[in-house]
Amino acid sequence: MMGEVVVIGASGHGKVVADCVLKSGDSIRGFLDDDPSIGTSFVGFPILGSVDNYKKYAKDCKFIIAIGDSFARERIAKKLDSISWYTAIHPAAVISEIGVSIGDGSVVLANSVVNSNAKIGRHCIVNSGSVIEHDDFIGDFSHVSVGSCVAGTVNVGKHVWIGAGATVINNISICNNCIIGAGTVVVKSINESGTYVGVPARRLQRNLT
Ligand SMILES: CC(C)(COP(=O)(O)OP(=O)(O)OC[C@H]1O[C@@H](n2cnc3c(N)ncnc32)[C@H](O)[C@@H]1OP(=O)(O)O)[C@@H](O)C(=O)NCCC(=O)NCCS
Repeated sequence: MMGEVVVIGASGHGKVVADCVLKSGDSIRGFLDDDPSIGTSFVGFPILGSVDNYKKYAKDCKFIIAIGDSFARERIAKKLDSISWYTAIHPAAVISEIGVSIGDGSVVLANSVVNSNAKIGRHCIVNSGSVIEHDDFIGDFSHVSVGSCVAGTVNVGKHVWIGAGATVINNISICNNCIIGAGTVVVKSINESGTYVGVPARRLQRNLT
């Protein structure tokens, strides 16, 4: 039946995404996961096999990747061709009626706010209780974690992970491939990829692997 969703990734995030699918009134066919140790079911839904099994479900299901690692999300997104992506928007998320766009395969979880004219890329995670303010741009495969806040008119690149409870002030930008630690406050633009922590944010002397 069209409208059933296959969740890729039987993990902590996977079960939250599955709940979001159900709360949206859609049903779940099952999970795909490459880890055979998970067994035959996960949170009451069948494990349908490894990700390579997707073709079996491609004709009558939509897919969403529920994996925290943004590079894994990108790899899988590129690998799965001719499928329909499911975009999961929790009914308790507050999405402005004005100018918002949310890319295919992204997930917007409960109690988050996506305000006017915000643009969210593909396969992003807008986690529970986070705020994406007006005129923000969030690049593909980025993750705005639980309880974090991106103030207005911020440009966030691709593969950026903004940690739990972090704050990004308005009118700045964060380049591709950055991690912003939990609780960090970013007060000026970040133009060099890397990991940033603290108040105000300072770069840890190491790069993403
Ligand atoms: C930033 C982060 C990725 C760094 O992890 P890491 O590379 O393993 O770094 P380490 O734990 O080795 O810490 C390195 C140093 O940075 C400090 N540090 C790490 N995270 C920090 C943070 N969020 N704020 C301030 N300082 C931090 C550590 O205290 C340590 O300092 P020291 O060298 O003086 O002891 C991680 O700490 C973090 O904040 N992750 C975000 C988790 C999250 O928000 N999850 C949400 C899921 S929805």
